[in-house]
Amino acid sequence: MRALVRPAPRLHGTISVPGDKSISHRAGLLGAVADGVTEISGFLEGEDCLGTLRAVAALGAEVTRKGPGQFVVQGAGPEGLSEPGDVIDCGNSGTTVRLLLGILAGQPFATVLTGDESLRRRPMDRVLGPLGRMGARVIGRRGDARLPLAIAGRRPLAPIRHVSPVASAQVKSAILLAGLWASGPVSVVEPAPSRDHTERMLRAFGADVRQDGTTVTLAPGPALRGRPCRVPGDISSAAFFLVAGAAAPAGGLTVRGVGVNPTRTGVLDVLRAMGARVAVATGDADGEPWADLAVEAGPLRGTELGGALVPRAIDEIPVLAVAAACAEGPTVVRDAAELRVKESDRIHALVTELGKMGVALEERPDGFRVPGRSAAARAPFRGATVSSWGDHRLAMALIVAGLLADGPSVVEGAECIATSYPDFVATCRAVAGEDAVEVVA
Ligand code: S3P
Repeated sequence: MRALVRPAPRLHGTISVPGDKSISHRAGLLGAVADGVTEISGFLEGEDCLGTLRAVAALGAEVTRKGPGQFVVQGAGPEGLSEPGDVIDCGNSGTTVRLLLGILAGQPFATVLTGDESLRRRPMDRVLGPLGRMGARVIGRRGDARLPLAIAGRRPLAPIRHVSPVASAQVKSAILLAGLWASGPVSVVEPAPSRDHTERMLRAFGADVRQDGTTVTLAPGPALRGRPCRVPGDISSAAFFLVAGAAAPAGGLTVRGVGVNPTRTGVLDVLRAMGARVAVATGDADGEPWADLAVEAGPLRGTELGGALVPRAIDEIPVLAVAAACAEGPTVVRDAAELRVKESDRIHALVTELGKMGVALEERPDGFRVPGRSAAARAPFRGATVSSWGDHRLAMALIVAGLLADGPSVVEGAECIATSYPDFVATCRAVAGEDAVEVVA
C-alpha cells in the first residue's frame, strides 16, 4: 500500500489516539498469568497487541472480545498455562516476543517462537542471556540469539541480579516476569530508567516490586490477581500529531486522554526545548497518569537529545527528526544506537528517506545531526517518493513530513502502520483535511 500525502497549510482539531501499545501488551500478558478475570478497556487493536492476545490464548488463557478495545482475559493462574499446539508467531512485535520469553522461562514445557523478517533480524540475546542464567534452556538461530527459537522453561527459576548494558524495558520486563516463578528475588539494574509500565502493573496486580534508584526488584510470592485495566492513549502515537501541529504553518491541536508516565514523556521535553508551545492538563490516574495535550503552531529551534532523555523518547525519535528539520538551527541526537535494532535501522532509514525529501542528515554511529531548516526553502521538505522500510513509525513520521512538504509525496509500504495505529490515516484527514492523505493499493 502507498500513502499519497499533500501539504497541509493548517492543522486543527481535537483528537484521541488509540490505546498505549506497551500497556496493552502488558495487560494481556499479566491477565493471562493472573488468577481471575482481567477486563481491559482501551486496548490497542493493532497487529502487535492482537498478536500478544493470540499468543496468550495459544498458551491456554481465555480471551474474549467484548467490543472495540474491550477484552476480557480469564487468567490461567500461575500454574495454569499449557504447552501450545503450534509455533507462536510474534509478527513484527519485539515486545510480544521478549516479554513472552520471560513468562515462558518459568513454564514447565517447550515453546517455539518466530516472527516476521524484521523481528527475525532483531537481537534476542539481551533477554536470553539472563533468562538462561536463571535456568531456561534455549535453542535458536545465530548462536541462540535470533528467532525462530525454542525455549524450555524451568520451575523454579534461579534468582538473579542482572546489570543490563542497555536501558531496555523489554529486558527489564522479561526478567521481572520470569521472577514470578523464581525461588528468590530478581533484580535488574539499568544504565538509565526505561519505561516502568511493567512494574506499575505488576504492583497493581498484587506483586511485590520495589524500586531503588535504577534498580528494580521483584520478590516472588504473592499470586497475581486479575483486575480492571484502563489503557490510556499512546503518547508515541500522539507524538506524530504533536509534531505535525507544532511544525505546521498554522493552527493547533489537542490530543485527549494520553498516558503521561514520566518514563515516556521525553517527546514533550524535547518539543519544549525546541520552543514548541505544549500545554498539559493532567487528568485522572489509574495506575498510570493521564493528560490532555495541546500544541500550537509556531517557530521551532534546534536542540540536543542524548543521555537519559533517549530511553524516555526512544520511539518518538523518527518524528522528532521531522520536527528538527523544521527548526531553525541544527539538532543533534546522540546515545541512541538502540535505534539501529528497532523495527528497522531507524538511524540509517531516516538519513536515507529524509534525504530524498531534501534534508541532509549526517549519520553517526549512535544518532544523527539534522541541519535545520534552510531560510531560502519554501517548506522544510521537498515532496518526494519515500519508503517506510516496513517500519510503522518511519511510515507515520514520513507522512507527517509529507504534510509539511512543498508538494505531494508518496510513502511506499504504508501497510505497516496497522502494527500500532490502524486509524492513523483517518485521523490525519480529520486534522489536515479530507484530501491530505489517501491510501492506494
Ligand atoms: C517497549 C520498549 C522499548 C520500545 C518498544 C516498546 C516496551 O523497547 O522501543 O517500542 O513495550 O517495553 P526496548 O525495551 O527494547 O528499549
